[in-house]
Amino acid sequence: MRVLVVGSGGREHALCWAIAASPLCGKLFCAPGNAGIATLAECVPVAVTDIDGLLAFCGTAAIDFVVVGPETPLVEGLVDRLAMAGIKAFGPSAAAARLEGSKGFMKDLCARHGVPSAWYGRFRDVEAARDFIRAKGAPIVVKADGLAAGKGVVVCRTEAEALAAVDLAMTTKAFGAAGDEVVIEEFLDGEEASFFALVDGETALPLVAAQDHKAVGDGDTGPNTGGMGAYSPAPVVTPAVQAEVMERIIGPVVRGMAAEGMPYKGVLFAGLMIGKDGPRLLEFNVRFGDPECQVLMARLKSDLLPALLAACDGQLRYFDLRWHDHAALVVVMAAKGYPGIYIKNSEIKGLDKAAACPGVTVLHAGTAQDGDRILAVGGRVLGITAIGATVAEAQGRAYAAVGAIDWPEGFCRRDIGWRAIKDLGGHAG
Ligand code: AMP
Ligand code: GLY
Repeated sequence: MRVLVVGSGGREHALCWAIAASPLCGKLFCAPGNAGIATLAECVPVAVTDIDGLLAFCGTAAIDFVVVGPETPLVEGLVDRLAMAGIKAFGPSAAAARLEGSKGFMKDLCARHGVPSAWYGRFRDVEAARDFIRAKGAPIVVKADGLAAGKGVVVCRTEAEALAAVDLAMTTKAFGAAGDEVVIEEFLDGEEASFFALVDGETALPLVAAQDHKAVGDGDTGPNTGGMGAYSPAPVVTPAVQAEVMERIIGPVVRGMAAEGMPYKGVLFAGLMIGKDGPRLLEFNVRFGDPECQVLMARLKSDLLPALLAACDGQLRYFDLRWHDHAALVVVMAAKGYPGIYIKNSEIKGLDKAAACPGVTVLHAGTAQDGDRILAVGGRVLGITAIGATVAEAQGRAYAAVGAIDWPEGFCRRDIGWRAIKDLGGHAG
């Protein structure tokens, strides 16, 4: 098969790594890719949002199968356009991608199907939003309805913060049209986890769970990022929690989407808050998590490509995936300044030394090749991924490899995995 992966981050490097290993993959392309992906796939300079450009490339390169990494092209209908052109693609239709593209849509759908989640209100009117906040009090969470590159959610400790968050979205228009509507919802307490299932329209096949670290600083402090590191397994997602998530969250949504005429196909990523009353849904994403995908691929024993094809073809009920027992952990290295304005075009050395460390795979996110040099061109730049018998061992190996990277303009968190290691009575370090 001739396969195209769409995207350029660490998630897409992990997907390319898994797909390139499949005996079904004859030739792999990635649009636009990065310097690491270029060692596995032919990178083509087409942006993920250039739907016409992607369609044209699929035609000229005779692509058989497209795997879409990020949410934006899914929400904008890339999979629908490919289907119209007769090209098979992994990922939901635009109608189904509204589970991530509109938080209000997602909340209404979950309410209709009895999914345990935060109470909420949807608002297009600033005054009504303010009244709701005053009536409910703090803590409370304010979310821009549309896609806002992970910046549209404000967890507010006080009423004043919540009123300011409403103004930021609706009056200042900090997120553009994504903030024309806001969802205001209950603050949920507990431990977060990332839950993934492959879905073929009818059947959902759970994958292993992961946890990520969204805050930029050690001890989960500082502003939120796309994710500074992740690990799997997630000790909070016990077999009992997984069963409950499948029964009360994933199952009802998959059946509800089908019954309402927008069957969900692709990977469904549920952001969970696991508290005293069990798991509750924070949000859905319609794609793999980044950096969670990196640790999922490091634990996947089965061939990924037939599983993705089965999700497209409605064949998941005949499918089974095998996973390694080992743990995996990824430490994201970012350019100094991220998630604000960050240093660009600095040189990264020591990549080969890091990759030679036991159990380690160096995945690239924001990198570009410049002659013999590898340059940092994005905010999140590398994902140093390691496997180990335990999360603690994987952590030790990942940080040993981080130590081999010579990149003064980069930084990483030093405590990725601390929750899992604490739960198991181990030591971070
Ligand atoms: P999101 O961009 O929707 O993933 O939200 C970003 C982060 O905000 C989540 O990972 C949570 O840490 C936090 N968050 C979102 N919704 C809630 C909620 N209802 N209660 C508590 N925290 C939340
Ligand atoms: N790491 C969280 C996300 O991909 O949204």
